[in-house]
Amino acid sequence: KEVWDSFIKEKPKILVCSGAKRAGKTFVLLLTFLAHVSKYQNMGLSFIIGGATQASIKRNVLNDLELILGKELRLDKSNAVEIFGNRVYCFDGTNADSWKKARGFTSAGAFLNEATALHDSFVKEVISRCSYKGAMVMMDTNPENPMHTVKTDYIDKDGQTLKSGRLNIRSFHFSLFDNNFLDPEYVESIVASTPSGMFTDRDIYGYWVAPEGVIYKDFNKDIHYISSEQLKEKQGRFTKYFAGVDWGYEHPGSIVVIGQDDQGCFYLL
Ligand SMILES: Nc1ncnc2c1ncn2[C@@H]1O[C@H](COP(=O)(O)OP(=O)(O)O)[C@@H](O)[C@H]1O
Ligand SMILES: [Mg+2]
Repeated sequence: KEVWDSFIKEKPKILVCSGAKRAGKTFVLLLTFLAHVSKYQNMGLSFIIGGATQASIKRNVLNDLELILGKELRLDKSNAVEIFGNRVYCFDGTNADSWKKARGFTSAGAFLNEATALHDSFVKEVISRCSYKGAMVMMDTNPENPMHTVKTDYIDKDGQTLKSGRLNIRSFHFSLFDNNFLDPEYVESIVASTPSGMFTDRDIYGYWVAPEGVIYKDFNKDIHYISSEQLKEKQGRFTKYFAGVDWGYEHPGSIVVIGQDDQGCFYLL
C-alpha cells in the first residue's frame, strides 16, 4: 500500500523495491507499471522491460502480467508485446554491451526486474532513455553486496528531489513478513530452514549485507578509494608497477594493474 500510495501521490521518477525473496516486490511493481502504461493508452509509445534473460522476463514478469491482464502476451519479432495500445520491449540486460539494445530509444517508462542481475551500464542507459514526459522507472531487486551500484546509486539516494521539486528517487525496503499473501506455514518453513547470518539477513529480512568470510571485509569506500586527482599527485612516487592476470575461457578474464609507492603502499590502479 505504501508503494502504491507513493506511485499515486509522490510520482517518483525512479521507484525501487528491494528486499527479501517472495516479499511481493515484483507483484506490486507490476501493478504500478501497468497503471503507468495505462496513462498513455493508445498512444503507440515505447516502454521497456529489462531482465536478466528473455526466459527470466517470461517467468518473472510476463507470466504475472498475463494473469493480471487476463490475456496472453505474445512477443513479436522484436521481443515486444502490446499493452494498452503501446509497445513494451523486453531486453535482456546482463552483459557489458546490453545497453546497446536500448540505445536510441525514447521510452515513457521502464520496469527493471532483479536489478542487481543487470549490468550497471544497461540500468543507466534504460534510465536515460526514459525521457518522455512523465516517464517512470520501476526497479525490483534482492539485496546483494552493500557496495553494489543499485544500492549506492539509487537506494541510498532515497528521497532525492529535482530542482522542480519532483521526487526523483523513492526506495522501499521489504522483508519476507511484509507479504501477507503467503501461507504462514510456508513463511515459518523458510525461516526455519534458512541458515543464519548473511542468508537470513538477506533472504528473510532483506538487508544489504556483505557475505561473511568476504575477502576484503574491512573495505570502506570512504577510506580506501582515492580520486584520480589524488592519484596524479602520487604518480611521481610510484616505484613499481605490476599486473595480475586471471585468465578465463568460460568466465570473463580479469586483469589488474597495481602500483607500489615509495612508502611501501599498494594501489589497485
Ligand atoms: N499485493 C499482492 N496481492 C496478491 N498476491 C500477492 C501480492 N504481493 C505478492 N503476492 C503473491 O506473493 C508472490 C510472491 O510475490 P513476488 O512479488 O513475486 O515476490 P518478490 O518479487 O519479492 O520475490 C506472488 O507470486 C503473489 O502470488
Ligand atoms: Mg521478484
